[in-house]
Amino acid sequence: MDRKDKKSELELLSEAFNVFNTATEKLQDSYQKLKEETEKLRREIEEKNKQLEETSSLLSSVLMSTQSAIVAISKDREIILSNKKFEYFYCKYKDEFINKICEYRENGSYEFEIGKSTFRVHVGNFKHSDVEGWTYSIEDITHLKELEEEHRRDEHLKSMGVMAANIAHEIRNPLGSIELFASLLARDLKNDKEKRVLIDSVLKGVKSINNTISNILLFTKEVTLSKKEYYLADIVDDVVLYLRHLMNDKKIKFINKIDDDFKIYCDSELMKQVFMNLIHNAIDAVDANGEIRIYCKQEEKFDVIVVEDNGCGIDEEFIKKIFIPFHTSKTKGTGLGLSIVYKIIKAHSGNIYVESDGQSFTRFIIKLGRC
Ligand SMILES: Nc1ncnc2c1ncn2[C@@H]1O[C@H](COP(=O)(O)OP(=O)(O)OP(=O)(O)O)[C@@H](O)[C@H]1O
Ligand SMILES: [Mg+2]
Repeated sequence: MDRKDKKSELELLSEAFNVFNTATEKLQDSYQKLKEETEKLRREIEEKNKQLEETSSLLSSVLMSTQSAIVAISKDREIILSNKKFEYFYCKYKDEFINKICEYRENGSYEFEIGKSTFRVHVGNFKHSDVEGWTYSIEDITHLKELEEEHRRDEHLKSMGVMAANIAHEIRNPLGSIELFASLLARDLKNDKEKRVLIDSVLKGVKSINNTISNILLFTKEVTLSKKEYYLADIVDDVVLYLRHLMNDKKIKFINKIDDDFKIYCDSELMKQVFMNLIHNAIDAVDANGEIRIYCKQEEKFDVIVVEDNGCGIDEEFIKKIFIPFHTSKTKGTGLGLSIVYKIIKAHSGNIYVESDGQSFTRFIIKLGRC
């Protein structure tokens, strides 16, 4: 190799070295940039993950604290997600709860019942990854239904009241004449024993119709209260005095657990009518040697008075209509007693509830506000 060739080889080598150096510098540059990019991305991902965690924890606490029960159920009935309220219902009603909601597979809102509770369920679909199913949001609307029922009953009572007042008015006038003529006849037939018996039964019938009409008018009249504080025991004692002979006839055990110092703020005459009707009904309901119990307790906002008996009970369907006038199972009943009771309790801004198993007991629970 001559000198010239050697030189160009060296030049080439140096050129190549320079290129290599520049490339290495560029590579280092790019590597540095990549490192910085990666670090930036890592920080962004970390930030996003944090945000995701926060959102997910917010969602989960919203889900857990919501008053509705929420559950997502897959097509093969696996619970994918649920909240506390759902777990509460599930604990209470077990599989019956799941079976009921799984009946609904179309989007929309539905109502269903379990025992005495009513629920509203809103149904939707979900698809997540490869899982498909339904989401259910469920509320217990039993109380709402009770309020609706109460409102319906009040409206019904109002319209019945107007009708009953008209009927009572129409009957009362001719009845007055019948009573007057029958009394005149009775006076004339004083010495005719046979006819006197007949006229006496006319008078008895008139008295009974009059009694019914008084009840109807009582039911239709606006209740005006004259409220004071009374010992409940005094009110109950007065009523029991009046009904004692009926209880004795049937050898009924009357258990009075009213505390001597328990006071209620009420119209005492009207409240006497309440207990008169309730205890009278209980007397009719129990067999000989039956038991009637009355007791009271104080709740946070209410005075609670309970009249219960171990008689024939009232079935569920009958209970729904029990405060509506003229619902009676008795041949000689007017079916007005409890509607009057209801009206008086409502006028006291109170409430009355019935519990019964339909065969062995009935419990009337009165709740009165304290002012
Ligand atoms: N303690 C009870 N146990 C069982 N059934 C009852 C009881 N109280 C009320 N009932 C049922 O409710 C019905 C309605 O009672 P309500 O007092 O309104 O009318 P009634 O007793 O039939 O007639 P009245 O107008 O003479 O009171 C009764 O006929 C009875 O079937
Ligand atoms: Mg009655």
